[in-house]
Amino acid sequence: MKSGPILSLENVVSVYGGGRSWLGRAQPEVRAVDGVTFDVQEGEALALVGESGCGKTTLAKTVLGLLRERSGNIRLDGKLVSGLTPQQARLARMTIQYVHQDPGAALDPWWTIGHTLDETLRIHAVSDRAERARRIEEMLSAVGLDSSFLRRYPHELSGGQQRRIGLARILILHPRIVILDEPTSGLDLSVQATVLGLFDELRHQFGLTYIFVSHDLSVVRRMCDRVAIMYLGRVVELGPTEPIFRAPVHSYTRALLSASPSLTPGQLDGMPSLRDDPPSPSAVPSGCGFRTRCALADRVCSAHRPALEAVVDDAANGHMAACHHWQDGLFSSADGSLAMHGVGAQ
Ligand SMILES: Nc1ncnc2c1ncn2[C@@H]1O[C@H](COP(=O)(O)OP(=O)(O)OP(=O)(O)O)[C@@H](O)[C@H]1O
Ligand SMILES: [Mg+2]
Repeated sequence: MKSGPILSLENVVSVYGGGRSWLGRAQPEVRAVDGVTFDVQEGEALALVGESGCGKTTLAKTVLGLLRERSGNIRLDGKLVSGLTPQQARLARMTIQYVHQDPGAALDPWWTIGHTLDETLRIHAVSDRAERARRIEEMLSAVGLDSSFLRRYPHELSGGQQRRIGLARILILHPRIVILDEPTSGLDLSVQATVLGLFDELRHQFGLTYIFVSHDLSVVRRMCDRVAIMYLGRVVELGPTEPIFRAPVHSYTRALLSASPSLTPGQLDGMPSLRDDPPSPSAVPSGCGFRTRCALADRVCSAHRPALEAVVDDAANGHMAACHHWQDGLFSSADGSLAMHGVGAQ
């Protein structure tokens, strides 16, 4: 059996801009991903969560190799796959595939679904026609659609069916890691439930590893084993889903979760909600990026950037946070377990 993570990121930085426009004006540099470090184990589902613009899609594109990392290391099965040109990186990372945020826009409107799926395999050098037809049929049935869909055009599909085709299109390439970017946005609740059930089923059937990008915290709680909370391109809290939802320690995570009271009934009462927009990623505050919106911030927070470190009482399960004051939100309850202010009193 293989040991070690399937995917490993170490201090990965991805930057947009920084050059000059065609008029010669200097473009501000945006560090959309700013020193991200985490491992993903084979078969797990890891969520990337955070407000719009925090760098989730940029991180996904960097992992795929569509965007070249400025610095840092990316390892696949322990093998270094960073420092390559986009073309080399995509080849080295072929076992990672991406399901687009908008599956309708990712399908060619002039091609039937059959043509799209066939072309995907041809591009990936599956030259045998019968083999292509076999793989297409197999994946169409795996995502719960019959062969009549092969003759349809994208506009003839519902949102849920487009997600299924989006999945079939990458699964025919036999990926090991699938990045799902906002996979349920725009779907009504019943279709969402069916699509989520399908993700679960396919994960087990094909032994897939998921990186799950979502704003919907209830979906994350249901689907994912671990959660990485991102703020201004950095991971500020990381850990198994239940401890993160039950006892988040970073002020940002607590504020995010308190905006979903149904997920944390009573637990986070009194937490200040998130006001204003995050600062621009081209002008990140010194020290802790969250300090300008944090009620606990002091001089230490402006002077020093907190590292992502183990939450001591919860270290064994891999719970980590990047906050100078994470302990301020915690106390030990009577039975000695870790709890948050407000939780034990309920
Ligand atoms: N091609 C680009 N050129 C310059 N800046 C970009 C580009 N794409 C994204 N950005 C900036 O990088 C930052 C991160 O963007 P990204 O799309 O990764 O965010 P996100 O977390 O996926 O947001 P959302 O939840 O809205 O999809 C944002 O400030 C965004 O404006
Ligand atoms: Mg995005």
